[in-house]
Amino acid sequence: MEDKGAKQDAKRSLTSQTGPQAIVVREFEPADKAEVQRIFSEGLLEMISDTACRGLIHHPESILLYTSLTTLCFFITMCWWVIGLLPVVWLCGRYLYSMRVIHGYLEHAMSTDMGDMEKFYMNSSDSCLWVAVLEGKVVGVVAAVSQKKSGGAVELRRMSVDERFRQCGVGSALGRKVLEFAVARGCSTVVLGTTAYTQAAHRLYQRLGFQCVQITNGYDTPGARWSLLERIFYRVRYHHYSIDVKNYKSALIKQN
Ligand SMILES: CC(C)(COP(=O)(O)OP(=O)(O)OC[C@H]1O[C@@H](n2cnc3c(N)ncnc32)[C@H](O)[C@@H]1OP(=O)(O)O)[C@@H](O)C(=O)NCCC(=O)NCCS
Repeated sequence: MEDKGAKQDAKRSLTSQTGPQAIVVREFEPADKAEVQRIFSEGLLEMISDTACRGLIHHPESILLYTSLTTLCFFITMCWWVIGLLPVVWLCGRYLYSMRVIHGYLEHAMSTDMGDMEKFYMNSSDSCLWVAVLEGKVVGVVAAVSQKKSGGAVELRRMSVDERFRQCGVGSALGRKVLEFAVARGCSTVVLGTTAYTQAAHRLYQRLGFQCVQITNGYDTPGARWSLLERIFYRVRYHHYSIDVKNYKSALIKQN
């Protein structure tokens, strides 16, 4: 409760003192590493409950599986308490396996790009990582990589905003930076993918002009081991978003 109040106060004082124009998006510097890793990890770990609980209503096939297994167990045991207990078991299983997969994904990211951002993103003109700064504090992160193989597309990745500074325009400012990066490089599209079910991520990308072009049900998350139990308890949809940079360029010209 106290934590939530503190976050609200931070947000209120931020919007009243500064306004969205005070958000500065700049290139990553080595001194930002710890803060960037914290913001990225916290954003990712929030997806555990999102996947386990909110995700369930998006997967009728999982609901059907749990209901069938519960009914089967009931007919085998003929115990009424099975009907009350098993849904709790399914939810705990979903939470446990979402935690395992997402921690595996985090480890994978930390042992690759997010472990050495300088090397992975800042040593080539085809990639970049930016941080959003508010009142001297790093409050958000995003990265972009040019995908040479897929016809000049830029991939937006690692978008995350410190929970205390959300809904203040930080995510939008970071997203626009990636779009400007693509325009400057003459790239045709910006693409991204997300397994988030929260409204926040989808609303952000739609507001930036992205369109959901495909949904992969049962996405193979990097870091997953795909044991039988993992398949039963962890199932996500991967939303593929894309924006034609030409549209963004003409919107920019109209604005100026
Ligand atoms: C998704 C995320 C980056 C959004 O960042 P943000 O700084 O809050 O985004 P903005 O303030 O620029 O908001 C962009 C739009 O999304 C909307 N939005 C943001 N959070 C929202 C929420 N919780 N519920 C509904 N809409 C929300 C804003 O209202 C705004 O739309 P509007 O212009 O129509 O008002 C942030 O919530 C986050 O870091 N989440 C955890 C990590 C994550 O999910 N990353 C993306 C996965 S790929």
